[in-house]
Amino acid sequence: MGHKISKATLIGLGYIGLPTAALLAKNNIKVHGVDINQNVVDTINRGEIHIVEPELSDYVLEAVKKGTLKADTKPIQSDVYVIVVPTPFKGEHEPDISYVESATKTIIPLLKEGDLYIIESTSPIGTTEKMQSLIYDARPELVGKIYMAYCPERVLPGNVMYELEHNDRVLGGVDEQSTQKAIDFYRTFCKAELHATNARTAEMCKLTENASRDVQIAFANELSLICDKADINVWELINLANKHPRVNILQPGAGVGGHCIAVDPWFIVSDYPMESRLIGKAREINNHKAFWCAERIEQEKVKFELEHNRKPIIACMGLAFKPDIDDLRESPAKYITQKVMQSNNGDNMLIVEPNIDEHPVLKLTDYKQAYEQADIIAFLVAHKEFKTLPTNSRDKIILDFCGVRK
Ligand SMILES: NC(=O)c1ccc[n+]([C@@H]2O[C@H](COP(=O)([O-])OP(=O)(O)OC[C@H]3O[C@@H](n4cnc5c(N)ncnc54)[C@H](O)[C@@H]3O)[C@@H](O)[C@H]2O)c1
Repeated sequence: MGHKISKATLIGLGYIGLPTAALLAKNNIKVHGVDINQNVVDTINRGEIHIVEPELSDYVLEAVKKGTLKADTKPIQSDVYVIVVPTPFKGEHEPDISYVESATKTIIPLLKEGDLYIIESTSPIGTTEKMQSLIYDARPELVGKIYMAYCPERVLPGNVMYELEHNDRVLGGVDEQSTQKAIDFYRTFCKAELHATNARTAEMCKLTENASRDVQIAFANELSLICDKADINVWELINLANKHPRVNILQPGAGVGGHCIAVDPWFIVSDYPMESRLIGKAREINNHKAFWCAERIEQEKVKFELEHNRKPIIACMGLAFKPDIDDLRESPAKYITQKVMQSNNGDNMLIVEPNIDEHPVLKLTDYKQAYEQADIIAFLVAHKEFKTLPTNSRDKIILDFCGVRK
């Protein structure tokens, strides 16, 4: 069995799927990209893109013009099928693999001997094996005749086109032949090292990378709470502790956000609750940090009212989940802002996010104007614009949760 890969179907043309599709197309694989969103399909077929990612539009335009990339709402027969659909969580932080399952079901009738089936979506341990059973239950004549692997990536939004080619990857098949087949496939565009393992280890590796960041940030956030009580500057403390040659503490902030680090650790905790106590606790600590920040703003508000006999104007500086981006997914800054708004009925509040022009619900104010007008200024995200604001503001109450003034 086995044949040369010349055609690939990618299912899910989002932040990861579309760049991967475009890069494969550039490397002379005929790519059929599938998305359930008709608007996404139409946009790509015009040679345009629906997401913000540097350089991506050039790749897509060139591939569409050359005819190596075509988008569609339905898959077609190929040599490789790559699943890159969302894997959110549901209910009590349980992973939702229903998108992976429904994408897989659409390609089951198309599979033939020698094909390679790959999952790239962040998935709980055992997902690739589950999909293997799903496929073989429907197509028992293919048992042992197709290759299956789990192949996560670890790209940084904003630098995706470079990192897809240059980051090491971990590739895990359901058997050794599958791993080897996956390595051959990724070799078409990846110039970095490709590390072979099994599917379960590869699934856990992706989750581990994000859980590791989460746990380390939780340590920094826990220190920030201790230091607040102990009257110690946490930024100075961490800087000094890091002078130790074998200590490397991360920076605290308003919590942890985004759709990876704030989500993926739950995939471990949900399946192994008794064993993953530290990982679960880190999630709790990082979520609690955002709650704590909102409480601190409330405390300052009450203090101000007692001292000045009027309500203060509060500026919430930043809504994004990290500095200098416009992404608000799972953002602790947004959570804090909304919590403060609820307790104030939205009065006397200025909301700032310099990376966004307008928001459908929240009324945004220019950061300089907000700084001038507010009595209480809560820095929630260390955006570069905030570093240019005056620092000699003795008449203002400054709450620096993100170290923008450290
Ligand atoms: N964005 C990142 O930085 C990043 C990093 C690592 C891992 N991941 C993982 O990669 C996966 C995809 O993430 P993303 O950011 O590209 O998501 P995304 O939301 O940008 O894109 C997913 C796309 O899949 C489409 N889709 C959903 N169900 C479908 C189906 N059944 N058939 C066809 N298309 C379908 C959606 O319309 C959407 O366009 C997730 O599991 C995510 O956790 C993302």
